[in-house]
Amino acid sequence: MKHVVVFKEIPADQLDRIKSEHHVTVANAEQAPAAFRAALASAHGLIGSSYPIDAALLAEAPQLEVISSASVGVDNYDLAELRRRGVLLCHTPGVLDDTVADTVFGLLLATSRRFVELSNMVREGRWPKDFPEELYGFDVHGKTLGLIGFGRIGQAIARRAALGFGMPVLYHARHPVDLAAQAPDLRGKAEQAPLAELLPRADFVVAMLPLSGATHGLIDAKVFAAMKHGAIFINGGRGRTVVEPDLLAALDSGRLRAAGLDVFAIEPLPFESPLRTHPRVTALPHIGSATHETRHAMAALATTNLLQALAGQRPVGAFDLTRV
Ligand code: DGY
Repeated sequence: MKHVVVFKEIPADQLDRIKSEHHVTVANAEQAPAAFRAALASAHGLIGSSYPIDAALLAEAPQLEVISSASVGVDNYDLAELRRRGVLLCHTPGVLDDTVADTVFGLLLATSRRFVELSNMVREGRWPKDFPEELYGFDVHGKTLGLIGFGRIGQAIARRAALGFGMPVLYHARHPVDLAAQAPDLRGKAEQAPLAELLPRADFVVAMLPLSGATHGLIDAKVFAAMKHGAIFINGGRGRTVVEPDLLAALDSGRLRAAGLDVFAIEPLPFESPLRTHPRVTALPHIGSATHETRHAMAALATTNLLQALAGQRPVGAFDLTRV
């Protein structure tokens, strides 16, 4: 029997799976930091999400074998230190792709058809009798989508755009993508393009980048300046891949028609952030994967990963730390 520390609550059925094999301490790292830190000393496994685990915390967990994150993103963890200590990191790729793609597509529709702004007019009793042209939106179907980042979620977004909305899709990926093997239904419908070609052609630019040294601040003033005049920008990846003051400048200059954002450099978005109230920003509180079904599937996969790791097996969701 090993000691597992649950640092953010998981559903009861998944907690029971862990308890049937191991000794468990539930200590929410955010709400009960002292209990969490006390439990680290004897922890063999950690499971949770949305909490930064840095080198200092890892030093307090000398027996740690595995961290199982109920997320696909791994930017909350000190990857180099995990590798140095030989601690396995697991995450939850695959189970959230369609849900996050749905969220991103919702932002595409909401921004171009101005759903939030117009819904607020109805709510506030300001429905104009003769609907004026200045309140019209722009079509989504048939427009060109440019994807920055073309992993599983990017491919799920491309599928919705190409197969559902008749949109030509351009994508930029750091590594070549074998469409025939990975997404055969997108062959002939999605085309790889360098950023310099994608940005001026896309009506919608969607960023789906993980956060790493290579992507931090990648979407900056130069990138916005290369976009088509009147493009719509959507970020469903990580907030810090975008230089937010440059995004605001692109909105204010009219280069961008609108932005739909599910992620921000600082979350929750600070009250004083101009993005919170900007009239052409549709902001969501990082809910890409937040449905009952998908959050449960993520917790279940994280639990499987944890149990496999503690049993000495290679978990299905092991993150490859040699990539770091
Ligand atoms: C993830 O899984 O990384 C999503 O962003 C939800 O946190």
